[in-house]
Amino acid sequence: MAHTFVMVKPDGVKRGLVGEVIGRLEQKGLQLRAMKLLQVTPDLAAKHYAEHQDKPFYDELITFITSGPSVPMVWEGREAVQVARTLMGATDPVKAVPGTIRGDFALAITENIVHGSDSHESAEREIAIYFSPEELL
Ligand code: RTP
Ligand code: MG
Repeated sequence: MAHTFVMVKPDGVKRGLVGEVIGRLEQKGLQLRAMKLLQVTPDLAAKHYAEHQDKPFYDELITFITSGPSVPMVWEGREAVQVARTLMGATDPVKAVPGTIRGDFALAITENIVHGSDSHESAEREIAIYFSPEELL
């Protein structure tokens, strides 16, 4: 069965939206396999967002993602990567349609509540950054 990595970002934790995000993924039928609350360190953030290191928004992204506790999670289910991305909505909350997490709860592009892996390869890589094999149920 497919796995994906989803993380409630610091804005989502601060605003009390952890339960909302989990509830939506559960209602869709995905299964929670691992979860924790942690402060993303600069080292973890650099690994997670390595693909974006040359982008103009990189420094802002690292500052934001390390600004408070986040909730990284592993979810399992049919086409889990695509399903989670669909539930999250477009990167820019202005374009995210109502009914999606970003469409319903976000307005700023940096503070967009949630991260989700964009491919099976990204999911495997990101899961390994945040979880040890023993932590995956
Ligand atoms: P994510 O990785 O967080 O799930 O988001 P995504 O795939 O939808 O978007 P991605 O292109 O991977 O960008 C990662 C995060 O960087 C911030 N961003 N800011 N200012 C900008 O133009 C800009 N573009 C992206 C967003 O917080 C995005 O989620
Ligand atoms: Mg991405």
